[in-house]
Amino acid sequence: MNLILLGPPGAGKGTQAKRLEDVYGIVQLSTGDMLRAEVDSGSELGKQAKGIMEAGDLVPDALIIDMISGRIDLDDCKQGFILDGFPRTVPQADALGSMLTDKGLQIDHVIAIEADSEAVVARVTGRYTCSECGSGYHDEFQKPVKDGICDKCGSSDFTRRADDNAETVRNRLSAYEEQTAPIIAYYGEKGILKTVDGMADIDVVTAKLKEVIG
Ligand code: AP5
Repeated sequence: MNLILLGPPGAGKGTQAKRLEDVYGIVQLSTGDMLRAEVDSGSELGKQAKGIMEAGDLVPDALIIDMISGRIDLDDCKQGFILDGFPRTVPQADALGSMLTDKGLQIDHVIAIEADSEAVVARVTGRYTCSECGSGYHDEFQKPVKDGICDKCGSSDFTRRADDNAETVRNRLSAYEEQTAPIIAYYGEKGILKTVDGMADIDVVTAKLKEVIG
């Protein structure tokens, strides 16, 4: 089964994708995480992407499409995948359609997680991640059980993203409205779009997603 999760920054795409990985045994493919790994490794792609990401703008389509096409070919995608943060423009959605046809694959569900702009600014600016295992937390909404200790792996080392400040989040929201929101109508016209209220509690959103996916 192959899924696309759509939604603005902070809607909960990454949080929910990690939960759905466990539920369905399919892999999360986050283009944001892949790009951050490229930046950390100092690769040519990472050098091109770094400033763009720090400004909250979108990385050029051609770079993203090549990156995701190669990733889908890896063995861990054979059972299925969850696209998180891709596609983000109509040209990316068109390229995804052609790419999957060429690979003999298809998308089973496109799910838009809806969330208010002001709420997502608070979510994103309070977010932090375990440096060891990548588990996500929030200063207010998703604290670890023991303060300062990751629930999953026990590490006490956490990081915050360079683009998770209020100014950049607002720019990411503008990029979303201008370039990504149109693909909601794009998939609506294809008849495979579902929507889920992302303003509910995290567990409630997970339950709703499972209901929609079946
Ligand atoms: P990317 O990493 O994809 O960031 P994003 O789309 O801005 O999404 P986020 O990761 O911020 O939000 P999320 O929906 O995953 O929220 P989360 O679950 O963490 O992209 C970063 C950059 O890379 C882009 O700006 C661009 O430059 C580049 N890029 C990436 N893909 C690209 C592409 N395809 N094309 C071009 N450029 C690309 O939740 C946020 C916080 O809220 C967490 O702390 C969580 O605990 C909390 N939370 C989640 N759900 C709830 C809830 N229901 N209630 C309360 N709190 C909640």
